[in-house]
Amino acid sequence: MPEQKRTLLVTSALPYANGSIHLGHLVEYIQTDIWVRFQKMQGHDCTYVCADDAHGTPIMLRAQQEGIEPEALIERMNAEHQADFAAFHIEFDNYYSTHSDENREFAELIYTRLRDGGHIDRRTISQYYDPEKELFLPDRFIKGTCPKCGAEDQYGDNCEVCGATYDANELKNPRSVLSGATPVEKESEHFFFRLSDFADMLGEYLATSTQKEVANKMNEWLEAGLQDWDISRDAPYFGFEIPDAPGKFFYVWLDAPMGYMASFKDLCNKKGLDFDDWWKPDSSAELYHFIGKDILRFHTLFWPAVLEGSGFRKPTRVFAHGFLTVNGQKMSKSRGTFINARTWLDHLDPEYLRYYYATKLSSGIDDIDLNLDDFIARINSDLVGKYVNIASRTANFIVKQFNGELLPVADFEPDIQRRQTYMDGVLGTKQVINELYEARDYGQAIRKIMEYADSINQYFDENEPWKLAKDPAQKDRLHSICSRILHGFHALSVFLSPVLPEMTARVAKSLFDKESPFTWSDLDEQAFPSRLNKFKHLAKRIEPDAVNAMLEASRESIAVNEKPQASGPLVDEPIADIIQFDDFAKLDLRIVKIVKAETVEKADKLLQLTLDLGGETRNVFAGIKSAYAPADLEGKLTVMVANLAPRKMRFGISEGMVLAAGPGGKDLFILEPHQGAQPGMKVK
Ligand code: MSP
Ligand code: ZN
Repeated sequence: MPEQKRTLLVTSALPYANGSIHLGHLVEYIQTDIWVRFQKMQGHDCTYVCADDAHGTPIMLRAQQEGIEPEALIERMNAEHQADFAAFHIEFDNYYSTHSDENREFAELIYTRLRDGGHIDRRTISQYYDPEKELFLPDRFIKGTCPKCGAEDQYGDNCEVCGATYDANELKNPRSVLSGATPVEKESEHFFFRLSDFADMLGEYLATSTQKEVANKMNEWLEAGLQDWDISRDAPYFGFEIPDAPGKFFYVWLDAPMGYMASFKDLCNKKGLDFDDWWKPDSSAELYHFIGKDILRFHTLFWPAVLEGSGFRKPTRVFAHGFLTVNGQKMSKSRGTFINARTWLDHLDPEYLRYYYATKLSSGIDDIDLNLDDFIARINSDLVGKYVNIASRTANFIVKQFNGELLPVADFEPDIQRRQTYMDGVLGTKQVINELYEARDYGQAIRKIMEYADSINQYFDENEPWKLAKDPAQKDRLHSICSRILHGFHALSVFLSPVLPEMTARVAKSLFDKESPFTWSDLDEQAFPSRLNKFKHLAKRIEPDAVNAMLEASRESIAVNEKPQASGPLVDEPIADIIQFDDFAKLDLRIVKIVKAETVEKADKLLQLTLDLGGETRNVFAGIKSAYAPADLEGKLTVMVANLAPRKMRFGISEGMVLAAGPGGKDLFILEPHQGAQPGMKVK
């Protein structure tokens, strides 16, 4: 048991219900899960909740695009998200949705309290409205010419060319991303949360509640003066209607953080816990939010103020992390480095990602880089070469020569003085690692753990057990040495448990016959098991091919999945370079006949087409499975790029490309020339 048992409630940010979980998200969920597991292993009462963030315009529009109700979309995404998280061993105590009764109750309760406390103002404002789609446009759905530098095709809130920020109505030649229509300004009444009422409280709060860099940022905001926050949106909107204002809805970011409460409330209902013990203002429970640095303002200004204004406790701390880069650059769809959780799982072990992220994570908000070559080298050298290697080369001696019997510490280190020193070493290491995990300095913790692994491997090499094993006179010494090495391996397994829960649970069970996973108290001298089973395979080396196949699959799944939706500012989607007519003229476009169309095993989006170019046949993979059944294609004429260099894909070589256009899904259309056209004809 820990010296003092703490009660903690921990959250990760709630992922939006309109997209799949990708490796960027996973930085956060893995970071949080490691911390939560670490707290639980010490015996603290720690609860980890999360939910899908189900409201807002993008979700409403995506459902429309798919021709389904938003409820159906968010239900499907919720199941998908939960499956992805579980596969990465992210273990929530509860996973819920912001589109839930509990969340509606919190939204209404908190809003009413804020209103009655005088913290809500109503004002009429003028905003861009799409006259064709008949809805008010969020900034990300408006594009136009930057008012500062004149760059075209910039979003309504900031320019990616010159970095200027501005209001949407300052854009020149604005147009709606949804319909292409020119937006019109339209007035409507909005509800505002008077953030400045809480300026003093926030000034005090920031000093203790987050990292130093973040506190500095907050200070800047406070010094610049706090603006009222627009918390309402007009219909049509997918969210909760404001109780005293029909046709007006809570802005998604108002009820999103309440989803933390709603998820916890749902857990309380299931387990019979008293919600108020965690959420009343003087609660002794600790509350921690893990978030990315892009959503700081919502968590360090609005959220504490909303909680304060409605009579709830505030977060103990908000922990922000940096953004993921892959091979040193922002995740990029065209480079194949925009990798979905599922694509990773199809090719690589989830725990390898957990380990690699752990080596990179610190308590700060610097971006973290997934360098794929370094990733392969790290896993192969640390996990396979150092950690697993200890057990794989030592276990056999104990099993074969000593019938599986492990000596206790008192036997392999009989001298009291030396035993004390040895155990001090183990527990001292534990103490250091403990503090590093607590401080979220996982990179340092892993460094310490690997130093420890190095020292054990060195001890193995120096003592040459393989030689002792040949000399019957050295049997006792062999027993001592191997027991001590495995004692070290056992400690390493405990240290690594928050990061590698699955692998270490297998070590516990298959090697040490221990049914339950390791806890911190397994490091006590008396807790060392007395028996060891035969070593079974634990981890295999990563082959670079697996990583390449994942990148290829990623490129493919994204190319086909592409949907016209407002992408965040932090993920690049390079606009293709301008080409000259000469470049265009190089395309050899030909009429072809689809003689055969087949599905491709393990490829969700691809069809394999056999194309007749008037004598010559080509094999082409086309990402049109969502729109066409193979049987409907056979016999059709279409158009291909015939002089594209052959491309090696996971499923074979693609010799050209079929042209198709459309938003995606069912709406994807190949070109269909009139039937008089002949295969092989050049398209002019
Ligand atoms: N729905 C909001 C959060 C509401 S919390 C009350 C949201 N959702 S998100 O899906 O866009 O992001 C969820 C979390 O993942 C955020 O903390 C975000 O910072 C994090 N990340 C998303 N992309 C990321 C990277 N590329 N890198 C690291 N973290 C990233 O924001
Ligand atoms: Zn600009």
